Amino acid sequence: MSFDLTTDQLDLRARARDLASTLVADNAAEVDRTEQYPWDNVKALTDAGFMGMTVPKELGGPGRSFLEANLVVEEMASYCGPTGRIVVEGNMGAISAIIHYGTKSQQRLAADLVLAGDKPAICITEPDAGSAASLMTTRADKRGDGYIVNGKKHWITGGGVSRLHLIFARVFDEDGSELGIGGFLAIRGEAKGLRIGPREPTMGLRGIPETEVIFEDLEIPADMVLMPPSGFKRGFADLMNAYNSQRVGAGTVALGLAAGAYRNALAFAKQREQFGRPIAEFQGLQWMLADMSVQLEAARALLHKAALSAGHNGSPFPDATLAAQGKIFTSEMALKVTTDALQVFGARGYSRNYPMERLARDARMFTIGGGTAQILRTVVASRILEQKLPQTRDGFSHLAAQAERDARLEAAE
Ligand code: FAD
Ligand code: COA
Repeated sequence: MSFDLTTDQLDLRARARDLASTLVADNAAEVDRTEQYPWDNVKALTDAGFMGMTVPKELGGPGRSFLEANLVVEEMASYCGPTGRIVVEGNMGAISAIIHYGTKSQQRLAADLVLAGDKPAICITEPDAGSAASLMTTRADKRGDGYIVNGKKHWITGGGVSRLHLIFARVFDEDGSELGIGGFLAIRGEAKGLRIGPREPTMGLRGIPETEVIFEDLEIPADMVLMPPSGFKRGFADLMNAYNSQRVGAGTVALGLAAGAYRNALAFAKQREQFGRPIAEFQGLQWMLADMSVQLEAARALLHKAALSAGHNGSPFPDATLAAQGKIFTSEMALKVTTDALQVFGARGYSRNYPMERLARDARMFTIGGGTAQILRTVVASRILEQKLPQTRDGFSHLAAQAERDARLEAAE
């Protein structure tokens, strides 16, 4: 595994930096203030070929790797967190699951949408099933060749702007027996029964709506069922495996936010004078800046390793443990680095006239969304100890829980 970037990758990163440091940087404060989805940025990302980078050549994309997509993510996020997240979801997560698990027509549909700038929405979390994602209650009931989906998701990134939706749901056969968890594709505006609910007023990352997405007898035809490779019974594991790509991407947004904060702090420390000299000459700040650079380098190396593991671990997606380790480390690093960088600015760091408070607010999300830092530690622990998670060790899986519920209902009758 080499950490040296090729000339082509360096060129890709330079092109991303050009766009990030101009249009994206110019729009960032306004996107945060108005809480509007940055359609201008999306058009520029699409024109530059930064949406659908991981789409294979035979589907019209450039067939780039997760590492390459993440080089672009870091650059965008270092100026604008929401724009970094759009690049993540335009290249990882739902699109990766569809590219690797989908039928030819599903692949083509999804590829065409992301290459045209759509950021797909991935619908997993429910009000009563956050960390315990496999206990979701949204259900897909078989009806003829297709399925009818009912239920409610919340905190769905891009609710109301995304067109393509990948919906996780518990699957039931026509006789009512449970088959496991599957993925269902729907296009907002075309699918009847998909409704966007209220938007969350968020602390940061305000340029992308987080909303409820509600399914009311949503009809999913047979050709929009995303069949996991090992079927519905292990569908949750397969879908979460694809989701590891998005965890690396989310970690990279946190990395970009921290890198942006560090870049600003470095420049400010050289230029701001107190006691007759630049504050960069004070050892107290020098060590803060040095610590930031150490943390950033470590986080970047870990995430690059996680991204490069795709295809080398018996799976086309990044390794689950590395993805979790990378996201834990980077999301926590970003809290410290954005806070320290804000400190370097003194009072100006606390002002909304400067980007530091926005970067710190945006960074706050990444120990929560996409698997909390606690859950990801549990994922790492279960793998290094080769044990089931504590909550599953006693046979508490979604199928066992369902069987328990059924038994209770039967006994009550
Ligand atoms: P809970 O699961 O209720 O957890 C509450 C607390 O308990 C947390 O600190 C958690 O770490 C801790 N905890 C829970 N279980 C354990 C355990 N076993 N061991 C130790 N600690 C535990 N979801 C989607 O499906 N699609 C999206 O696009 C999406 N985007 C998001 C965007 C943002 C900005 C945010 C904030 C969230 C998003 N989410 C999305 C939801 C996100 O994935 C969930 O918030 C997350 O999985 C945690 O679920 P929860 O909020 O219900 O917290
Ligand atoms: N990559 C690969 N496989 C995964 C996986 C991942 N990221 N997460 C879970 N799996 C597999 C497990 O290894 C297990 O397979 P096994 O039976 O061969 O051991 C299977 O999926 C079921 O997982 P299990 O751990 O038994 O389920 P659980 O319900 O107890 O816990 C969590 C699952 C907590 C790991 C999972 O629900 C989770 O990641 N929660 C966070 C949710 C999240 O990230 N939401 C993001 C929304 S955007």
